[in-house]
Order: sequence, then C-alpha cells, then structure tokens
Amino acid sequence: MCGIVGYVGPRSAEDAVIDGLRRLEYRGYDSAGIAVVHDGVLTVEKRAGKLANLEKVLGETPIPLAEVGIGHTRWATHGPPNDVNAHPHTGAERRVALVHNGIIENFLELRARLEADDHELLSDTDTEIVAQLLELQVQSGEDLATAMQRVCQTLDGAFTLVAIDAAEPGKVVAARRNSPLVVGLGDGENFLGSDVAAFIEHTRDALELGQDQIVVMTRDAVEVTDFWGRPVQARRFHVDWDLSAAEKDGHDWFMRKEILEQPRAVADSLIGRRTPSGQLQLDEMRLADEELRDVDKIIIIACGTSFYAGMVAKYAIEHWTRTPVEVELASEFRYRDPIIDATTLIVAISQSGETADTLQAIRHARSQRAKVLAICNTNGSSIPRESDAVIYTHAGPEIGVASTKGFLTQLVACYLLALYIAQVKGTRFGDEIDEIMRHLEAMPDHIETVLGTAEQVYGLAAEHASTRSVLFLGRHAGYPVALEGALKLKELAYLHAEGFAAGELKHGPIALVEDGLPVLCVVPPKGRDQLHGKMLSGIQEVRARGARTICLAEEGDDSIEPYADALIRLPKVPVLLQPLVSIVPLQLFACELATVLGHDVDQPRNLAKSVTVE
Ligand code: F6R
Repeated sequence: MCGIVGYVGPRSAEDAVIDGLRRLEYRGYDSAGIAVVHDGVLTVEKRAGKLANLEKVLGETPIPLAEVGIGHTRWATHGPPNDVNAHPHTGAERRVALVHNGIIENFLELRARLEADDHELLSDTDTEIVAQLLELQVQSGEDLATAMQRVCQTLDGAFTLVAIDAAEPGKVVAARRNSPLVVGLGDGENFLGSDVAAFIEHTRDALELGQDQIVVMTRDAVEVTDFWGRPVQARRFHVDWDLSAAEKDGHDWFMRKEILEQPRAVADSLIGRRTPSGQLQLDEMRLADEELRDVDKIIIIACGTSFYAGMVAKYAIEHWTRTPVEVELASEFRYRDPIIDATTLIVAISQSGETADTLQAIRHARSQRAKVLAICNTNGSSIPRESDAVIYTHAGPEIGVASTKGFLTQLVACYLLALYIAQVKGTRFGDEIDEIMRHLEAMPDHIETVLGTAEQVYGLAAEHASTRSVLFLGRHAGYPVALEGALKLKELAYLHAEGFAAGELKHGPIALVEDGLPVLCVVPPKGRDQLHGKMLSGIQEVRARGARTICLAEEGDDSIEPYADALIRLPKVPVLLQPLVSIVPLQLFACELATVLGHDVDQPRNLAKSVTVE
C-alpha cells in the first residue's frame, strides 16, 4: 500500500528513484512522484496514474541531475488520485519534500491547527500536513533529523515518512511506525524502500527498521535513533534472492511467471525441514516444544488468500494433532473480544508481513498473553518481527498483486506446522509424519504435472470471455480452494464469482444456477469417506439445473466423466494435500480470463499488494 523509495549516492537520483518505484509499483498505482535536491534547490514532479505517466513527463521536462532523491507510488487513502494529491508533498516555502505511506489518524486536528495559523493547504491529503509541520520545524532552526523527531512525536496512526530538505543536500531522513521501511546498504551509496525489491539490483545487504525509529542516511553513513533521538541498533540482514527473481523473464505477467514458479517455491519451502534421522525441524521457530505441548487451542488469523490458506490449515492441524483450531479474519478478530490466554497459540499468516489488520490482531493477542507464530514470506517485515516465532516461506518475491506462489508456500508451512505439533504432542498421526512428508516432497512434481494442463485451461478461459458470473464448488479441503478460485476471478477478471461448500448449495445458493452458468467443481479424491460421492451429488444437482460443469478430478476417477462438461485432471494425492494441486488450474483460469478481457493482471483496479491500512 504505497511504495516509497529514497536514494543518496553518486548515481543519478532520478534513475535510482524511478527504478525503485518501478519495482514497487505493485504496492499502489494511483499516482507517482519524485523530488530531488540539487544545488540547494528542490525540484518536485508528480502525476496521477501509473508510473509511466510520470516517466513521460520526466522525458519531456528533465529534472536536474542530483545525488539525493525520494519517490512515491500511491494507493489513495485521503483524497482522489489526482496530480495535487500525488506525493511528494512540500511545505509552503517548498524547502522540504515528503513522501508517506500509511494514515495519520489525528490529521484533522493537525490540519485545523495549521489552518487556524493561516497556513494554506493545497491537497486533501494527511501527508501535506506533515510536510508543512516538518518545514515549520526546519525553518525554526532545527536540522531535518530533529525536526522529524519532533513531528513524529505529535503523530498518531501508521506512517513511513521519507523527507529531504533543500538546505541539507546529501541527506535523506525517514521515520517509521506501523508501516514498512528497509534500508539498502551500498558502497558509497544508500537506499530506502518499502521493501527490498526497491534496491535489490544494487545491494542485497539491508537494515530492518524497528517500530518508532528514525534513520538519517547520507552517502557514507546510516544512523538509526528512536523518536527521541536515542541511538538504536537496527538488525542487519542479507536478501537471499536477486534481481532476476524480481523480473518477468519473458512472461506477459508477473502472475503467470509466479504460477509457473510454484514447483520451485514449494520445493524451497521444504528444504531443511528434516534432520538426518527423519525428525521434523523448523529452524526459525523460536517456540520451545514444551510451549507447543501446552497449547490447547489454535487461532489462525489472516486476510484474503492467506485466510483461505488458514482454512486449509484447520483441516490439517485438527486431523493430525487433535488440537481445536479456529480461523478468523484478522480484521474481525480483536473487535469481538476473543477468548485467548497463555495456552492459546495464534498463527498469523501473511505473505507481505505488513498487513495492518493482521498486525493489529497480533498485537491484541500478545496483549492477552497468547503466543504468536507468524507464517510469512518477507524477511524484515513487521509481522514476524512482532511475533514470538516464525516459519518463513521461501516463495521469493511475489510481485503480481494476486497471490499465487505465496498461497502454495503458506499451505506448505501450515502442513509443516501441523506435523511438527503432531510430533511434539506425540499424537497417533505422529507415526505417519514420514509418509506425509514423502507426499509433500513429491508435490513439486505433481504441481509441474498440473501446469501441463495450462493450454487446456487457457482454452476454457477463452471460451468464457463473455460470461458474467461463475460459481466454484468444493468440499472439505476443497472448499477453501473454491473460495480462493473465486477470489482470483473477482480480483483479476472483475467478474461475479462465488465459492461455496458443495453441501451448502441446497440451502440457498442453488437458486443462482441457471442455464449455461459455469460452475468449477473441485472434486475430492476417492477415499474411504463419503466426500467424493457427496460431491458428485452436488455436481449433478447444478447440472440438472442447466449449469456447465468444469470439474477438477484426480487421474483415474472415471465416475466423474458423465457429469463433467469439461474435465481437468489432477494427480492422485491425499485429500488434505489436494489444495496444493487443485488451486493451480483455478489460478491459470483467472490469469488467462483477465488477459483475454484485456485487464492488467499484475495491477488489478483498486487493489494494492500490501494493505498497510486497517
Ligand atoms: C489476493 C491477495 C490478498 C492477500 C491479503 C493478505 O490475491 O493477495 O487477498 O492475500 O491482502 O495479504 P498478506 O498475505 O500479505 O497479509
């Protein structure tokens, strides 16, 4: 939600900032802007719309070659996405320029104070207020770092602020509270970014900034303090992926590339999880086995796709560990006064590690003494930093706004967590860990096999270019897959899409079924339970009412053939692990249908990759 970059060093600040913004554009694309300081003069350029609009203006009207600059790509919160509301914002004398990610909650009060003192405000944003306040501070004789401390002490809410001052060339000052910011450490140059993608082509050494910290960055030095100017030690880390991982590699969309990367992402997320004797190990996990043994309830909190991963996790954890699991939308969690205590384990799932709803839910849980374990894909992000333990997924950077490989690797982490708890609790499924791990380790090959159906799926997507509504049905672990398949279609193809538990159809949703309605059905594997037969009944019910059924069913399941207008084959895998393969055709379907409809798959309208506002 908004991308922020800062640069100081010998290269052209414009190039460094624009390159950084290009890599962060997935975080928001309502407007883009840049500010540089050269020879004591501040230059600001900003435009509504995607970064390309700003680049066009910079091509026509070049800005000075400078060694310090900041930039912003916006996901609008306060005020419509127009040129005036675009960042950077400046003070009245255009001495200080500022970019901001987050929401200043007391902005109305601060705005009223400025207006009462006859300060003219040009935009509708909360950011301009902070820019004006900063400029007033530096004009009163303070340096930019001290001014930033003073201003931050007066702000409520979530913010990453990055500022430059025409009177202090060669310096960038930034602050963070509840919003992401990392420092890229170069040789004779330094970078700031909302995430490491902003500077990965220049350096893989980074500093993670903590809560309520300020960083002062020059070419040769990076100093971190708290909001009161006291020095603090920031954690240094090395990024384990490189630029090629953040590029499209010849694909039309990052999303398509990321779908195709899933076998590798799943394999990477499984590396190093077993000791030579076959015991499971979760390296990064900091909860002691005794603490896990004491857990008598698990609550999974997450949003969107990560929430659906949590729903799958519930089936696996309860089945393998016999520990009760609740799955809860993070945005609802703390408002319902949940019953939690020191024996509750909270599992927070987040690809970005920055989702504000999830972060606030974690804080609430920890205030009630519950332990929090994060499942996260982003090193250096807020959610793992504020948790007691973390399992990192190894999907690599996920740039497409719609999550794909993030989801699969979250599933892997959830299965590993479930098996680990089974191991430490010694449940009867503990004996099966080895067998389940072998199934998991075979998953990259199975996912590769499903990717082999891509052309068939693309053909089906093209056939449905004029459809306005699509239903998805699943049962058991296939139910969250149906929900996730529908979410992908909504967000990318802007179609009405709904996922249902197949057994629930007859309780209402079947009224939606009409002649020709496409219904995608996730068929569970044939097993000892009655799931498969019950799913067939659901499929027959919608077909009898004119639906066009597209069924995803395992190899060798002939019983489905009479009821499927189209049939996509899945490899034979255990029912609990089937989401790892059954979601893949649904991702391909949504990606292709959106492409056929001419939509921007990587940057769907109104969305942003990392939702850092509640
Ligand atoms: C959908 C999607 C979102 C995210 C949700 C949570 O494709 O990507 O629904 O899953 O915003 O994000 P994280 O996992 O970063 O907390």
